[in-house]
Amino acid sequence: MSAREEKVELVVKNCGKLLEGPHWDGANDTLIFVDILGNAVHRYHPQTDKLQSVKIDENVGAVVPTKDGRTLIAGRHSFSFLDWTSGKLDQIAAVDSDKPDNRFNDGKCDPAGRFWAGTMGPEKKPAEVLLNQGTMYCLNTDLKVTSHFDQVNISNGLAWSLDHKTMYYIDTLPGYLDAFDYNKETGEIKNRRHILKVPNNEGLLDGMCIDTEGMLWVAMFSKSKVNRYNPNTGEKLKTITLPATNVTSCCFGGKDYDELYVTISAEGISEEELQKQPLAGSIFKVTGLGVRGLPANIFG
Ligand code: BGC
Ligand code: CA
Repeated sequence: MSAREEKVELVVKNCGKLLEGPHWDGANDTLIFVDILGNAVHRYHPQTDKLQSVKIDENVGAVVPTKDGRTLIAGRHSFSFLDWTSGKLDQIAAVDSDKPDNRFNDGKCDPAGRFWAGTMGPEKKPAEVLLNQGTMYCLNTDLKVTSHFDQVNISNGLAWSLDHKTMYYIDTLPGYLDAFDYNKETGEIKNRRHILKVPNNEGLLDGMCIDTEGMLWVAMFSKSKVNRYNPNTGEKLKTITLPATNVTSCCFGGKDYDELYVTISAEGISEEELQKQPLAGSIFKVTGLGVRGLPANIFG
């Protein structure tokens, strides 16, 4: 790794509450992300420093572009196409119909263009969730939904190894980063195992992404950090400190994929606490890391 200075910069200030799911849209050179409980999808244009936002009628866990130029979301309980101008949703499939208090959380596309997104049970305050209510779903490119496993607490980070043989996954509360054998052709996953364990006092493992060296960058919710881990050894390789505690996710972006965009939540933070961390609910960019990410997978 180079010895360049890392720099943490504020890019979008106080633009929402539960900011999540950053995705670099390489076709438009923009960053798209969601405000899950604020029912909003945002698009940030770095070249003009403009933020474009659309309000929708439900919570939104994750957003991804599609190969045919549309926008797909994992909403509260369903996968839908989103119309950016009107905010209208065109529902594809509903999930968790027996659990009306559940909602989608994090989601991402795999290397074959399927959209994976998991749900979670009702949450009283950040990370105080009704346990084991969630399920991991996958919207296949034929628009059919597969359910992969249940008993999920807070479905979070997803990433696929560079050889496309492993899917990495975080269910936040147990403190493990897990791996599955992943079959790119069929979308099947099997052989779930823990690859690293983080004690809760180091923060809650949240969203993640992978770099071109196959290392994982993981948002550490409640501890103002993004950590870089080696998934093969479990070793922590690096820590970046952000100016607010509830770091929810990160992705690489910029034209060379050498900028790490980070989302930080302001949800459930008291007025008093907000005085101490006024930049909660903002988007940050970290540069000078000496590593790059890969173009994000999109749907279709
Ligand atoms: C969820 C939050 C949750 C947090 C910490 C986030 O991904 O969106 O609802 O509080 O993880 O577990
Ligand atoms: Ca997350």
